[in-house]
Amino acid sequence: RAAKKQQQQTLESTVQAACDFYQQQLNHNQAALNYVQQQRGLSPEIIAHYGIGYAPDDWRALAQIAQPYPNTALLESGMVLDNEGKQYDRFRHRIMFPIRGVSGNVIGFGGRVLDDSKPKYLNSPDTPLFDKGKNLYGLYEARQAIKDVGRILVVEGYMDVVALAQFGIGYAVAALGTATTAEHIKLLFRHSDSVYFCFDGDGAGRKAAWRALENALPQLKDDKSLHFLFLPAEHDPDSFVRQHGAARFEEALLHQSKPFSAYFWDVLTENSDMTSQEGKAELVKHAAPLLRQITQAPTLLYLLKQKLSEITGIDPNNLAHLMGQAAPKRH
Ligand code: CTP
Ligand code: MN
Ligand code: MN
Ligand code: MN
Ligand code: MN
Repeated sequence: RAAKKQQQQTLESTVQAACDFYQQQLNHNQAALNYVQQQRGLSPEIIAHYGIGYAPDDWRALAQIAQPYPNTALLESGMVLDNEGKQYDRFRHRIMFPIRGVSGNVIGFGGRVLDDSKPKYLNSPDTPLFDKGKNLYGLYEARQAIKDVGRILVVEGYMDVVALAQFGIGYAVAALGTATTAEHIKLLFRHSDSVYFCFDGDGAGRKAAWRALENALPQLKDDKSLHFLFLPAEHDPDSFVRQHGAARFEEALLHQSKPFSAYFWDVLTENSDMTSQEGKAELVKHAAPLLRQITQAPTLLYLLKQKLSEITGIDPNNLAHLMGQAAPKRH
């Protein structure tokens, strides 16, 4: 037990030391500074607020912060990789975004290349400190703004969070290169009753929004709300706020986003003909397994069932019976 705590602390101080090192390195590398400040338009204040840094173009830069290289902490924190006995830094020549845990301690990193090479982003693996399914990028930094405005915004990317904050929208967080999980939804609802999603306007963003909705179903509560904003296809929140400004972004967020229920029915009805009996039957079949997952929002569930009854013209009592017979949807 004490040994486990000791190991945890060693990991924490190693990851923190790496974070400090990367921040220093950013100031010593003109190409990296140029990328974040000129190409991505980040201010020195926002760079400091999010602790953005630079991992040098060096296989063993972290030997400068921890000896021997590699030690157990470097390996267990995922900062150093071992390939058949050859060890080297995971993050090289990348812009580094530190990811913080609930108490503000650094638990991992996302690292972006400075050009078009692949993979564009590299993330820390899950470690004893870092669980991607349970943490959100920017949540620690956003705490005060979330309290001030009474809402929280979920976006896809690191740059979206940081750019929005620079434009005064400090209440955005991002899932870490994974789908928004049920754990994420729980965490989000612990911080605010009002959660907005604004993913990229492309096909991947739309898919991610529906996945978030599906994972949110078991967490829905009658006194919590979800909204979904869909940007034009060519935009993500970063590009949108830079082109159109914070006022237009928030205006869209508050007035053009779809509440959960609207988005739910839009997607379920978009591919079938709701004037045909076949289309209505298909809708019931698709809606039933989703509605069954809403176990903690009885009034919302009641209203959704009423809506389904209106759309299909099926009497609510018969609907209950028919929905019970629909096969559960497989994921
Ligand atoms: N992502 C990832 N690994 C990749 C690509 C993306 O983990 N190879 C995650 C990152 O968290 C990234 C998010 O998915 O921030 C969204 O990806 P994308 O829209 O492609 O990147 P942007 O955040 O828009 O990055 P940028 O503006 O820097 O190009
Ligand atoms: Mn994208
Ligand atoms: Mn982007
Ligand atoms: Mn994007
Ligand atoms: Mn536009």
